[in-house]
Amino acid sequence: MNGYLDESDFRMVEEGFTTRDLLENLLVELCQTAEIAQVRSIGVPADKIFYSNPCKQVAHIKYAASHGVQLMTFDNEVELNKVARSHPRARMLLGIAADFSPSPLPSVTFGATLTSCRHLLEMAKEQAVEVVGISFHLGSHCLDPQAFAQSVAKAQLAFEMGTELGYRMHILDIGGGFPGPEDTRARFEETAAVINSALDLYFPEGCGVEVVARPGRYYVTSAFTFAASITTKEEVPPGQPGPEEEESGSKKSIVYHLSDGIYGSFNCVLFDSPCPRPLLHKKPCPDHPSYSSSLRGPPGHAEDRIADGLELPELQVGDWLIFKDMGAYTITTSSPLGGCPQPQINYAMSRVAWEAVQLFQGKPPQAEEDRESVCTPLSCGWEIAETLCVPPVFTPTGII
Ligand SMILES: Cc1ncc(COP(=O)(O)O)c(C=O)c1O
Repeated sequence: MNGYLDESDFRMVEEGFTTRDLLENLLVELCQTAEIAQVRSIGVPADKIFYSNPCKQVAHIKYAASHGVQLMTFDNEVELNKVARSHPRARMLLGIAADFSPSPLPSVTFGATLTSCRHLLEMAKEQAVEVVGISFHLGSHCLDPQAFAQSVAKAQLAFEMGTELGYRMHILDIGGGFPGPEDTRARFEETAAVINSALDLYFPEGCGVEVVARPGRYYVTSAFTFAASITTKEEVPPGQPGPEEEESGSKKSIVYHLSDGIYGSFNCVLFDSPCPRPLLHKKPCPDHPSYSSSLRGPPGHAEDRIADGLELPELQVGDWLIFKDMGAYTITTSSPLGGCPQPQINYAMSRVAWEAVQLFQGKPPQAEEDRESVCTPLSCGWEIAETLCVPPVFTPTGII
């Protein structure tokens, strides 16, 4: 067995230690790995943490209670009872549901209807739970700004119910769902303008209500660019049924298998949004024909369809495809179980930005002689595609 097993691979337990004893210990450890612990570890004070998970584990609620994290949400009796029992000092936001959500990832299962709000607020009163405001989350990638305006209006009605029951309601949480890619900036600004008008109307300046939001995608979508390589390709001759079960027409069509798939970084295709349009790492010759092309994950899973119907020039095994805006609900939610290797992540920052971060952290600027003399010139995938034949600046892995 030498070389196979090591003492450090096991938890050594005393004779007579039962599985249940072991579980108890493991569950206590699990509590220490709550998201809250991560946020605290980067220096966020407890009174700035909002534990907005709609389905909280009791162990995590207890962790929050013992570390002074008070602000959290509820939208049903079960959640309310859990918090009432495990965290009597919690300050709760009641989550309300949107009437409709044009989001491709709607928060269908979350949020109370206005009809059940009064009942929930009364239940909270009976259990002496403090309710300090109203919260909503329209679902990721919300595409209609008017949905925010309607929810703000609805939140005001819920505020009135809370105030009638004697609560001091002073926090409105408008959730997330704001668009993330760089080219949706105009849509973000439109959304912000609609929200601001609704706030002016229903929660005017001076009304004593603090407005908070939980943007996720907005911050991180454009932060990552993903590079996937072609591992195998299959040609479908003209006239044969192609990967989309249709005849491939007068030209051949091509199926490319990539180094990652829908169980990995392209899980957005299953849960969230279509695969972003790929850019080519090597610029093709303008006179080369294009072919109807499909992208698949690593061979072996027929259902691993990343994209179909792309018009691409003929690519070769080993070529790289570049996908922009892969920072939200892609690499973070990928699983190694689908057989795709976890992508390697390389972070890049300009020297000027780094110095700004250092200053922000209260660290003195670095002396000139301490700096690395050469700063790697960085370029991005889509620039590479447009500037022809520039050697890649990233290692042949996953994420830039
Ligand atoms: C409870 C909750 N709040 C906020 C967010 C962030 O949403 P988005 O990334 O669409 O801004 C999510 C995303 O899943 C969520 O579940």
